[in-house]
Formats: sequence, C-alpha cells, structure tokens
Amino acid sequence: MSVASRDRRITTRDINQRRTAGSIVALTAYSMPVAKLIDAHCDLILVGDSLGMVLYGMDSTLGVTLDMMIAHGRAVVRGASRACVIVDMPFGSYQESREIAFRNAARIMAETGCTGVKVEGGVEMADTVAFLVDRGIPVLGHVGLMPQSVHSHGGFRVQGRDEAAAVQIRRDADAIARAGAFAVVLEGTVEPVARIIATELSAPVIGIGASPACQGQILVTDDILGLYGEFTPKFVKRYAELGAVIGEAVARYAEEVRDGRFPAEEHCFGAQAKGR
Ligand code: KIV
Repeated sequence: MSVASRDRRITTRDINQRRTAGSIVALTAYSMPVAKLIDAHCDLILVGDSLGMVLYGMDSTLGVTLDMMIAHGRAVVRGASRACVIVDMPFGSYQESREIAFRNAARIMAETGCTGVKVEGGVEMADTVAFLVDRGIPVLGHVGLMPQSVHSHGGFRVQGRDEAAAVQIRRDADAIARAGAFAVVLEGTVEPVARIIATELSAPVIGIGASPACQGQILVTDDILGLYGEFTPKFVKRYAELGAVIGEAVARYAEEVRDGRFPAEEHCFGAQAKGR
C-alpha cells in the first residue's frame, strides 16, 4: 500500500495480513515530535522499552516502569495519526499471572490510546498472550533475543547458533503465533533460522537483526539517525548523523552567545539597544 493512499489508521489486522517480505515498515518512537516525523513512513510505531537505555541511560530495559511506558505511549499516540501504535509492556508488568498482565495491558490501552501491546517471551508466555487476545487486547510477540531476559541469556547475545537453540526459537515463535499474536518481532537471531521462521510462521515476522526474508523490519529510530552514540549493533544501518549535526548547532549557538551575535535585533521585542 502506498503511503499517500492511506486515509485511516493502520490496524493490527492490516499488519496481520501482510505476507510479502519487507511489507511492514516499523520504527520506535518515544515522543510526540518524533512520532509526527515518522508517522507517514511507517506502518507500525513501537513505543519500545528500549527508551530506558536510549533516553534514560539505563544499562538494560529492566528498570523501565509501567508509568514511564504510559507517559511516553500517550505522547506518541498524540503525534501519530496513521501508523499502528504498539506499546511495550515493561519487565514485571505481565510475567506474574495472566490476570495481572490483562490489568496492566488494559491500563496501557486505556491511558495511552494505543492499538496494542508487545510482550517478550515464547512458549512460557503463550497462555498469557491467548488470555489477552481473547479479551480484546491485540498482542505483538517478541522472541529470539529478548532484552528483558538479558541476565538469563548472559548478555545481549545472538540467538539460535546451535541446533537446540534454533529448535527452541522456532517453537517459541510458533506458540506465540498460535496464541493469537497479530505479528511476532524476531530479534538478534542467526539469519538461516530467522529465514525459516519467516517462511513457516502463520503470523508475519518483524525482524531486527534477523533476515531480509521477514515480512517486516524494525529498528530503533535514534540508532538509524545517529542520535544514540553509546553502541551501534551490527544490524543497525545509520541513515543520518544527527548527533554530529546537533553538536555543531549547539557549538555555533554557544559561540554566538559568547561573542554577542545572538540574540540579534530580530530576536528581541521592541529592541532599541545595539550590541551589549
Ligand atoms: O524496545 C524496543 O525498542 C524493541 C525493539 C527494538 C524491537 O523491543
């Protein structure tokens, strides 16, 4: 579907029906202005809990709270009128029981106006995913490298390197798709395994560090714009160097304030004085 022909918000059903490689374009947003800038170009905008690391400087996503996700989710929904907006459920908000997961997912949906939620987990989360979906909450799954399990995985490690691990990821993706997820994010998984999952799964696969065979691709917007300088994973392509652009702009501002060139007459109200 061309971007120009869209006149309504993309639904999870629209996403679920995409079956061609590369037909789902997804990015993250954490704020209203960024959501507004990317909305026309994306099918899905994810308010990812990566915001804990990218915006708040945390070491992992584990410290992100429900209130943080709701505040950022609400801002993103205000900025996006066309893309399907999905909000991540943070660590600890859905693992304890399916009832607690429902209560927190319902709070996210009601307080942000988003279209659905994302949860990490495979076979062990399938029952919870089905519980949410059956009660009207669209769910985006997330398998493979799951950042909320960073400590159980022993770091941010590429997944599916040996036969047993590959079989487990395929089982995880299948369980989440069968539970009713409208699509599944597949992160940090070796390409041949990701390709098989993208080919065989009943739901579309949105890859990040996965395979070009996936029906969709997602990246962290700050990564592709060169705004997050801490670490650039192998799977990220930088389409701009906004970090450098911001550094140069701020340096010019500082120089002009210090040498008296800013503010000039046109920046002042009823200005009389010339110079300092
Ligand atoms: O939190 C996030 O931004 C994500 C994407 C990277 C898939 O989960």
